[in-house]
Amino acid sequence: MTNRFTANYWTEKYKKKEIGWDVGEATTPFVELFKSLQDKDVKILIPGCGSGYEGELLFNLGFKNITLLDASVEAKTLFLQRVPSFPKEQFIIGDFFTVSEQFDLILEQTFFCALEPSLREDYATKMHDLLVPGGELIGLLFTFPLTEKGPPFGGSKQEYLTLFSKHFTIDTMEPCYNSISPRMGNELFICLKKPMN
Ligand SMILES: C[S@@+](CC[C@H](N)C(=O)[O-])C[C@H]1O[C@@H](n2cnc3c(N)ncnc32)[C@H](O)[C@@H]1O
Repeated sequence: MTNRFTANYWTEKYKKKEIGWDVGEATTPFVELFKSLQDKDVKILIPGCGSGYEGELLFNLGFKNITLLDASVEAKTLFLQRVPSFPKEQFIIGDFFTVSEQFDLILEQTFFCALEPSLREDYATKMHDLLVPGGELIGLLFTFPLTEKGPPFGGSKQEYLTLFSKHFTIDTMEPCYNSISPRMGNELFICLKKPMN
């Protein structure tokens, strides 16, 4: 199946302001997570970052080794309007599947669910490749049922365990206790670790 959800698809969504996923601020699970991060030099990627509220918060907290990535130039425009002091070259416009650097930490929020479900194996493999040994993929995955309708596309803990345990040690994959209220009860908090070898 070809990818129906191209950069143009997302750009049209931004232009028409059909951005129901955009909650206007960093979500609670990430606000809490960032408080626990001690090393400000940790190299972080946020793929499909959209308006980039989590990137903005990290930047304001003093994390400078951050790469934001989105397929749509509209996302970058929205972000830079709010955070003009952010180094422009650290917000990449491009396709996640073509990134070739490695990172210590990758953050997932409403990016996985935005992809064609047929790309899930590729997503898991790519995340593995993009992390340094011992690196972590941390974030949120929706647990409403996967149907033909989307994005957002749902899934189940069992599906995610099967998908990710091929590549990662599953440190955490549990119902998220501090989801924002519209998503409460429909998210898993995940911390997946790339093995050292
Ligand atoms: C549902 S939005 C979520 C945005 C953001 N994560 C948030 O929580 O507000 C999905 C985002 O992923 C981006 N996207 C979709 N496919 C992509 C790809 N292959 N590479 C990079 N970004 C992609 C879209 O442009 C869009 O901004």
